[in-house]
Amino acid sequence: KRPAGAPDRALARTITKVGVVGAGLMASQLALLFARRLQVPVVLTDLDQARLDKGVAYVHAEIARLLAKGRIGADTANRLTGLVTGSLTKDAFADAELVIEAVFEDLKVKRQVLSEVEAVVRPECVLATNTSSLSVTAMAAELRHPERVVGLHFFNPVAVLPLLEVVRGERTDDASLATAFAVGKALRKSGVLVKDAPAFVVNRLLTRFMGEVIGAVDEGTPIETADHALDGLGLPMTPFTLLQLVGPAVGLHVAETLHEAFPGRYKVSASLANLVKAGKPGVYAPDFTIDPEAREIFESQ
Ligand code: 3HC
Repeated sequence: KRPAGAPDRALARTITKVGVVGAGLMASQLALLFARRLQVPVVLTDLDQARLDKGVAYVHAEIARLLAKGRIGADTANRLTGLVTGSLTKDAFADAELVIEAVFEDLKVKRQVLSEVEAVVRPECVLATNTSSLSVTAMAAELRHPERVVGLHFFNPVAVLPLLEVVRGERTDDASLATAFAVGKALRKSGVLVKDAPAFVVNRLLTRFMGEVIGAVDEGTPIETADHALDGLGLPMTPFTLLQLVGPAVGLHVAETLHEAFPGRYKVSASLANLVKAGKPGVYAPDFTIDPEAREIFESQ
């Protein structure tokens, strides 16, 4: 059945190569997913060799983990390893039909990246953004072909979560949108069309939810109590574990975007901002006790 709002599948372009801009946590998960499900070459790019190596190493480690668990065989593991490569230049995207960016959550940076990509790709290449909260329309506005830009918003962990928010910008054309849905289906994701509005749908809900939990801690509830208050509801993980998975910096960016758009509805917690400033990956230490510095940040509010 065609998802609500999806154009005719016949309009979708065939994808034989994918480019991924960025080699961070989301980007490297995306690279593996595209290679595994579309079985096409995937090229990752990033600003320096160290980041690139880290991204490719993540992909290789995940392939080894899938092999060890018996999820894939040795032949598939070898094929996947060969499909994902890194390149320091975007020229490697010249023959890609789809390029997705998963770089720093900043409109200016994303605009710059998309214009650099547009300079090397073919006219029919679809440009996707994995933005968590920013406007797809604004991101595409200064491009020569804004109609080829579409939002493909994946959720962490990318390999596991089935949801895919597909975002149609004001100028996105039917062929790009049809390609987005077809790619989502091939990746075995449930694509849903969402409005190009701040943080789309899911991050609005999650940010509100996280904001209330963080707010309770800011108001003096012990972190452990707030984090475990909803355990009985059977959520897959506690709110602060989720924050750790997503990364506090991403959570903060989304909260800031939503606060700017809807000041009365979303707050930006000073303790979350301080956690990011302190470079903490979350409130938990590696042994899964509350990190003493994170506790201090929250208790000093
Ligand atoms: N990467 C790859 N695979 C992972 C993984 C990861 N980080 N974490 C877990 N998995 C895999 C495991 O390998 C396992 O696979 P298998 O079935 O092949 O063995 C499977 O997921 C289940 O894992 P576990 O049994 O270890 O653990 P759980 O049953 O507790 O599930 C979870 C783990 C899927 C992460 C679950 O806790 C969950 O769904 N948590 C909520 C995550 C969530 O809400 N994400 C959305 C974040 S918001 C976002 O990303 C948007 C952005 O814009 C901010």
